[in-house]
Amino acid sequence: MTEPEILVERDGGRFHLRNAWMSYVIELQGDRLLHRHWGPRLERYEGTAVESLASRGFAAVVDDEADSPSYPEAELSELSLPYEGDFRQPSLVVRRPDGYWASRLRYCGYEVVGELLAPEGLPHIRRRDDAAAKTLTLRFEDAVSGLSVRLHCAILEEGPVVIRWMEVANEGGGPLLIERALSAQIDLPYDDRMLLTLHGAHLREFQIERSVIAHGTFSVSSSRGASSPHHHPFAAFCEPAATETAGEVRAVELVYSGNHIVSVERDHYDHLRLGIGINPEGFVWELGPGDTFTTPEAVLVYGNRGLNGMSRTFHELWNGRLTPPLWAHRLRPILLNTWEMCYFDVSEERLLQVIDEAADLGFELVVLDDGWFGERDDSRSSLGDWTVNPRKFPRGLAPLIDAARERGMGFGIWLEPEMVSPRSDLFRIHPDWAVRIPGYEPRLSRHQLVLDLTRDDVRNHVIGKLTDLLEANPVSYVKWDMNRHITDPGSPTISSTRTGEFSHRYILGLYRILDELTRRFPEVLFENCSSGGGRFDPGMAFYMPQTWTSDNTDAVSRQRIQYGASLLFPPVMMTSHVSTCPNHQTGRNVPFATRAAVASSANMGYELDILDLSPEERELVRAHIERYRDDRDLVQGGEFFRLESPFDGDTCAWMLTDPARTRAIVHWFTVIGNPVRQGYRLRIPYLDSRKAYVEAGSGRRYGGDELAGSGIAFVPPKTDYPSVRLEFRAL
Ligand code: DGJ
Repeated sequence: MTEPEILVERDGGRFHLRNAWMSYVIELQGDRLLHRHWGPRLERYEGTAVESLASRGFAAVVDDEADSPSYPEAELSELSLPYEGDFRQPSLVVRRPDGYWASRLRYCGYEVVGELLAPEGLPHIRRRDDAAAKTLTLRFEDAVSGLSVRLHCAILEEGPVVIRWMEVANEGGGPLLIERALSAQIDLPYDDRMLLTLHGAHLREFQIERSVIAHGTFSVSSSRGASSPHHHPFAAFCEPAATETAGEVRAVELVYSGNHIVSVERDHYDHLRLGIGINPEGFVWELGPGDTFTTPEAVLVYGNRGLNGMSRTFHELWNGRLTPPLWAHRLRPILLNTWEMCYFDVSEERLLQVIDEAADLGFELVVLDDGWFGERDDSRSSLGDWTVNPRKFPRGLAPLIDAARERGMGFGIWLEPEMVSPRSDLFRIHPDWAVRIPGYEPRLSRHQLVLDLTRDDVRNHVIGKLTDLLEANPVSYVKWDMNRHITDPGSPTISSTRTGEFSHRYILGLYRILDELTRRFPEVLFENCSSGGGRFDPGMAFYMPQTWTSDNTDAVSRQRIQYGASLLFPPVMMTSHVSTCPNHQTGRNVPFATRAAVASSANMGYELDILDLSPEERELVRAHIERYRDDRDLVQGGEFFRLESPFDGDTCAWMLTDPARTRAIVHWFTVIGNPVRQGYRLRIPYLDSRKAYVEAGSGRRYGGDELAGSGIAFVPPKTDYPSVRLEFRAL
């Protein structure tokens, strides 16, 4: 592979970051950092596309007397402060001790290092010994306020990726207040681009939305203390004609799990400003003299191979440089989870039967979900009391762990470590450990409160409790849940000038706990969950390599959810379970083959009552598990491509293949069987056009180019919610 480069041109005035796939060019104009190019790799950059800046009405000017004065509001800029004449949404807002805003930055120099720098204390794209990276750091200062900024911009060897983040320091004598510190700002010409975002809700995560970018400002954000299922910290600008297979896409994603914003401004000169970072709403950070504030990383992806091209870049980046390296390339166990089987009604007797049966059916891990601890019989009590319920499990968890082990399986447990129930011993002893704004009763959600992870003592308690629990009960898996979001963001330990720091401090506290526990228990597979995909983001994925994608296990709803999630996350990071019918969330009856196909397209497990299966159903489950075991390499270690979008029509299709294209599985679904159109045709553009393939079900032969150019025709079974599985093997 070609080494990534950072070319320093024009006597240190222009920086050209490039690798085999892309170029990113930024340039200094006086003290202002301007955006020049984010697109395909360029052998040379000469600035031919720079718009000439004739004097603009109402525009403030820098260097009025210069030959080419600059007009901040007309330029494409990478860093902007308020009140400097830019007039658009700034990326950095800092108040001086006298209450005014820092409004001028002076450029002070740059450094290039041949490695990937990363923000301390925050999840990040990891260094790799076998793949190079380079980081450019640009320094700016404001002598009046003492504000100092280090803007970092890194380029990797292995994909069209740029990583951006900032450090904001106080080199003055008095306190500064940061009111907004985005991770990245990028200005682009509008060029008729469309915006693509992901919205959702509990049970309906990762819904794809394309919108026209109108003049003005549009943003997606979260102020819920978690990245949320409602708006993902992601946006992509696409050519209007961009499809899954073709077209230019520029995407950004934030490596962060808390309050975020992605804002898009189309201004009066038809420039687009994209800002991504911590949500400034409710955020104020007091920066004492000598202090530094560090933003999370923003990941910028460029591609000209459509949305699938963008997704491939994200998938490889997360697998190659984000999730814990120990887990990234390990096949994940096929698990049985007790939630939709037992809910809170778990007991040793029932679990021992379940373990027996699970082993017989071929499962590799049994997960004891909620209900095993304290006095937990419903969601009203016991969070925080992480001791085994003696009524349900009189001999503790050891007999279950042993029974699973003896049968060659792992055993896992559910935890919700960030929470406390008002009805718990923990709350009775430490009522002050719950997040609250002094003077108000904190709002309950799912009958629970949030533990104040901004505090050292609370964090140490959580780490200590979980360490004891996991040492006493050597489980191989933990499901880390978070079933409410944060209201009343306050803490008695936070001083009156620092209340706006709470939400970010909470996330930093959570990251510290996760860092410590995943270091102490590296062999435990941690699964991230927040009532499903309520906090499914790269920040959490840095610590936990897989996430329960949605509490909605209905295979029809899941087609959209998984299709949307796959824009960013590969199948191995998304867990998906076969559940019973009628489905517990939607009441739908979906054929087993369709349920199995949807779950088998991701990191697969089950959650249904395996003790209540008919002999025929047992055989179906057994055969399905066997088949998934055969396909697992392809699903979890291969490449994933979307073929037909359930957001555009009645059908959904995707494909899993190995990098060499020797084998591929295609799953096709439709929601409503169509009596008129009984045959369907699907084009499969991602096989090897020079190879010939046999389709395993029919035994028919096809050319790879034929499958791409002409497609394959098939008739789906006559049923509601049918699915078709096609399996191609290269001859
Ligand atoms: C929400 C999760 O998403 C479910 O799978 C289950 O673990 C429940 N919480 C348990 O309370």
